[in-house]
Amino acid sequence: MSKTRPAPMRLTARIYTFVLILVTLPLSSASDNTTLACNNLQTLLDPSVVQFPPTSNDPNSAGNYTSTITSTWNLFNAEFTPTCIVFPRTSSDVQVAMKEIFDSDVNYAVKAGGHSAMKGWNNVDNGILIAFDYMNHISYDPIKDTITMEPAIRWGEAVTALESQGVAPVGGRVDDVGTGLLLGGGLSFLSPAHGFSADNFVELDVVLVNGTMVTATQTNEYADLFKSLKGGGNRFGIVTRYEVRAVHVGTKEDKNWFGGSIMYPEASFDALAKAVLQYTQDNNDPNAAILVYFGALVLPDNTLFSFAMANLFHNNPSESLFNITFSPFLSIQPIISTTLGPLSYHDIAFSLTEPLPSNGHGQLFGATVLSSSPGSESEQAYIDTVHQWINFTKNEALYSELNTTVLAFTPIPVSQIVVGRQRGGNVIDPPLEAYNAVQFQVTLKTGIKSVSREMEEAREVFFEKWGSSFTRITPLSKRV
Ligand SMILES: *[C@@H]1O[C@H](CO)[C@@H](O)[C@H](O)[C@H]1NC(C)=O
Ligand SMILES: *[C@@H]1O[C@H](CO)[C@@H](O)[C@H](O)[C@H]1NC(C)=O
Ligand SMILES: *[C@@H]1O[C@H](CO)[C@@H](O)[C@H](O)[C@H]1NC(C)=O
Ligand SMILES: *[C@@H]1O[C@H](CO)[C@@H](O)[C@H](O)[C@H]1NC(C)=O
Ligand SMILES: *[C@@H]1O[C@H](CO)[C@@H](O)[C@H](O)[C@H]1NC(C)=O
Ligand SMILES: *[C@@H]1O[C@H](CO)[C@@H](O)[C@H](O)[C@H]1NC(C)=O
Repeated sequence: MSKTRPAPMRLTARIYTFVLILVTLPLSSASDNTTLACNNLQTLLDPSVVQFPPTSNDPNSAGNYTSTITSTWNLFNAEFTPTCIVFPRTSSDVQVAMKEIFDSDVNYAVKAGGHSAMKGWNNVDNGILIAFDYMNHISYDPIKDTITMEPAIRWGEAVTALESQGVAPVGGRVDDVGTGLLLGGGLSFLSPAHGFSADNFVELDVVLVNGTMVTATQTNEYADLFKSLKGGGNRFGIVTRYEVRAVHVGTKEDKNWFGGSIMYPEASFDALAKAVLQYTQDNNDPNAAILVYFGALVLPDNTLFSFAMANLFHNNPSESLFNITFSPFLSIQPIISTTLGPLSYHDIAFSLTEPLPSNGHGQLFGATVLSSSPGSESEQAYIDTVHQWINFTKNEALYSELNTTVLAFTPIPVSQIVVGRQRGGNVIDPPLEAYNAVQFQVTLKTGIKSVSREMEEAREVFFEKWGSSFTRITPLSKRV
């Protein structure tokens, strides 16, 4: 396996048929070289920058080592033991670390927000972890109208830091997620109008695998690298500074949006699946953004609570316009509850705070796309995907380990694809037609550190079945 691992990247519209999550990382035979590289780095960098695991005779030697490992969102990523962690304060620290890693040919991983769902994407055994915890600066330049961010900033922090200046970056939708999302493309409620999050890159400082740092832009000699980082993950280098376009979203007081959420019971699931498709086909307003998810919780008495949530946001304060734009969702009955009203972008940025205590759970993800071609086959594909997910949730053999599972739909409208093309393109490069990014999430009960064969088999069944619905509608994944 290559020592260059994919980026931490949670939310992405990249075209997967499905993603196999539990990759077992090979144990490196180079652990002596790794220790040597760590020791070299401790002399090359400030000693506090390079930290080793706590030792029994010196329990305080760990500093930030243990808290960094345990703060990964996915519990499976808290199970790794890097030989040492480098906590860079500057890009130059990252350069020194990468040069040593390159010259010693040792394994490494990179952690920004630590929110990756993928095992092994932000931690490493017998290798060096570069953890950005100390590089979380963000600022706005009103002359260039750009925002400059360091890798460890999270979207909630970014929005809060710039709120008084009335601007925000196009980032993610869950406040706790970090910048790894950008390299996977990134979906924001601003995306229908402003493109995938990565379409907003202006300039990137990138440390290459050999420690050389370059600044990549759309037009300079590193334009190919620049484009690769728009959706290609961090296989190409470590971004230590992002300069991105600022979006003028207003302050907390500017309630220039209307929206919120509608919660539905299982009796409305089919109607909601159809509404997602209808909205994806019909809506042409780039100021409208939605995230619809179906959720199921296993309660302490091993019964299931299923519901669906339509998060609907319109960057226009008019309620009557909102009612027209989102009529496919508003006409569904029965519903459980609604929270609709005037909102600021700041309100929206904190509307999807995770329901779970965010760390301490094993997370399993899969992703695919559904086209929005007109016709009954397309409609059936949306309904089938939801039914397959319902079947997954009704499998009681999983309840001893399952806490929650979510099936989420994010329409990618033509307007979003056009913005990306106008800005030099990205490597997601979908055809010019609306589709849905679909995500399947399984959250295990607190502390469960392994996945049963039953769970893996049930996930396989689900992936096979949701995949099969595409062959009938010419999947996008076959065209890219
Ligand atoms: C350690 O690195 C050296 C080169 O620096 C290499 O020749 C050797 O094979 C490595 N050892 C292991 C165990 O990988
Ligand atoms: C590192 O550990 C110290 C002491 O526990 C703590 O105050 C500090 O916030 C930690 N720094 C980071 C970046 O986590
Ligand atoms: C590092 O790699 C880049 C890209 O391949 C190359 O241009 C540069 O010369 C290399 N730097 C060193 C110090 O070898
Ligand atoms: C919008 O629709 C809701 C029902 O979904 C209704 O209560 C409200 O009066 C409507 N508002 C306007 C301005 O049409
Ligand atoms: C399951 O998730 C809920 C939140 O939805 C959390 O409060 C609870 O502790 C979790 N239970 C287990 C056993 O993981
Ligand atoms: C429902 O799920 C079970 C367990 O994974 C699987 O054996 C079965 O084939 C599924 N049923 C359908 C209709 O897909």
